[in-house]
Amino acid sequence: MKINDSEKTARDPQGKARLSLQCNSIGEDTTTIRSLDWDRSRFDIEFGLRNGTTYNSFLIQGQKNALIDTSHQKFKADWLNELKKQIDPLLINYLIVSHTEPDHSGLIGDLLELNPNIEIHASKVAIKFLENQLHRSFKSQAVKSGDYLNLGTNKSTGIEHNIEFISAPNLHWPDTIFSFDHGTNILYTCDAFGMHYCSNDMYDLYPKNIESDFRFYYDCLMGPNSRSVIQALKRIGKLPSIETIAVGHGPILKNHLSLWLENYQKWSTQNNKGSKYVAVCYISQYGFCDQLSQAIAHGIGKAETQVQLVDIQGSDLQELSALIGEANAVVIPTWPSEPDADLQRSIGTILAALKKSQWVGAYDAYGKSDEPIDVVVNQLQSLGQKEAFQPLRVKKTPDGNIFQQFEEAGTDLGQILNRKENIIAIKNLDGELTKAMGRISGGLYVITASQKDGENKRRSAMIASWVSQASFEPPGLTVAVAKDRAIEALMQVGDRFVVNILKENNYQPLLRQFLKRFPPGADRFQGVEYFEDLAKGGPVLSDALAFLGCQVKQRLETSDHWIIYAVVEEGKVSDAEAKTAVHHRKVGSNY
Ligand SMILES: Cc1cc2nc3c(=O)[nH]c(=O)nc-3n(C[C@H](O)[C@H](O)[C@H](O)COP(=O)(O)O)c2cc1C
Repeated sequence: MKINDSEKTARDPQGKARLSLQCNSIGEDTTTIRSLDWDRSRFDIEFGLRNGTTYNSFLIQGQKNALIDTSHQKFKADWLNELKKQIDPLLINYLIVSHTEPDHSGLIGDLLELNPNIEIHASKVAIKFLENQLHRSFKSQAVKSGDYLNLGTNKSTGIEHNIEFISAPNLHWPDTIFSFDHGTNILYTCDAFGMHYCSNDMYDLYPKNIESDFRFYYDCLMGPNSRSVIQALKRIGKLPSIETIAVGHGPILKNHLSLWLENYQKWSTQNNKGSKYVAVCYISQYGFCDQLSQAIAHGIGKAETQVQLVDIQGSDLQELSALIGEANAVVIPTWPSEPDADLQRSIGTILAALKKSQWVGAYDAYGKSDEPIDVVVNQLQSLGQKEAFQPLRVKKTPDGNIFQQFEEAGTDLGQILNRKENIIAIKNLDGELTKAMGRISGGLYVITASQKDGENKRRSAMIASWVSQASFEPPGLTVAVAKDRAIEALMQVGDRFVVNILKENNYQPLLRQFLKRFPPGADRFQGVEYFEDLAKGGPVLSDALAFLGCQVKQRLETSDHWIIYAVVEEGKVSDAEAKTAVHHRKVGSNY
């Protein structure tokens, strides 16, 4: 039954961002209110959102009524109006809070103003967070795996809505809980299985349109918690057949459920292959700690190294000690200069669990009362650990460049841990085969990419020879980009980049420049002559023989590279007589 499909456009105060609401039935007695944020360009970590996002909330009407999650504050007036159209707020008995991230919990206070009797069902940690967030008293019930909330039977449909809770910590917040309605077989997962994708399509009609956003979201938010993903998949595997996954971001999943579930299983299992892992500690709801830790974790994951995000406050001390003690490297944030007793105990546990053989890195959380990072670093140094990377200092509100720096520091750390294994793996390759592969030759190119991030520009570059024309019409090419390349983050579907074609007899200085070992976040273009705006996707090097401006259309995953297929939108040759630099190799086990 279709209830209502309103398409209202509410301009923000500057008249820029497009916000709208979509309200629809997704099952018997079940309605979604989707807040469509068409132009949101920044979310967590380095997310350069290409397709906006949505915040989905759900209303289930049995004998009693429950709402699952609210919306972002920016939708306040419209969302509350839409909710009132669907139900008198005084008739809402329960609010199920999947987790307390502000984009889903931003209107809880406003909802309680309308009906202070609503009882909140959430994980124990979430209720604790809400007590700090809401500054008001509210009725609550802490729930965990195996607990139920029975809404009773809807009189008109005769369906009983019995909600089962499933703990899913760290997906992606420590306080996350899933809910499963046995009346409709709808599983509510909020961040898990979501994607930042805004469109009028309610459902996952065309996987081709959304799979790259689904993957990117997984890599950024779920990949660093792949152990927790596997746990959650086991738990939901025990449920009766799931018909719909009602996610908190993006289209509701209904038409290709096995594809989405199998992908999560596959990607999480792949991530669990190696035995080495980095414990990236963070303090939830403190400064920018959560997002900054995710950027580091995402960078570590790019280097095919396992990572475990560790919520310092939410973990019990024994578990914390084991997670730190067994890690190969540990990343620690600055903490409040006057931590409460619980936090103090947790920090003490971490410091006591550290071992000399471990690599350790420190980063600023950019909270209001951070302990200076030097104090943290000194404490770590006095314990005799190896420094994983230079302390990551943050002196202003983190922007895209800072997230890029954190991600690159994570990748460098992952590479350090994997170095030995990679060398052994290369040595074990079949000699004759690699010699034969080495007879494949290519040209020499510098790939450049830049993206606007508010006032700033994020940009990167790399030397490439695995570039090949891939189509005539439209003109297209592929570039094979190693998964742990810094520039990879700027080459998602829809992004633009530039292929600078190097000139025979005049490529050495550029090769030297771009093959330097750059510290995380360094400007790779320092000392190089280039045209900033000649092409759309990135700098054009003055010494290039030609350039091609490209837009990414598809990404194909191999074991260690992304094959990026891009359509060439523009191009120019600077010297009609010169030839392209050619790269000959001896073995195929190197570029
Ligand atoms: C001749 C040559 C060709 C290369 N071609 C590629 C390539 O096609 N794809 C790739 O991912 N890396 C390639 N590399 C490696 C990267 O250019 C290089 O390691 C990179 O600039 C380091 O950047 P990073 O800090 O992002 O890892 C090549 C290196 C050389 C020396």
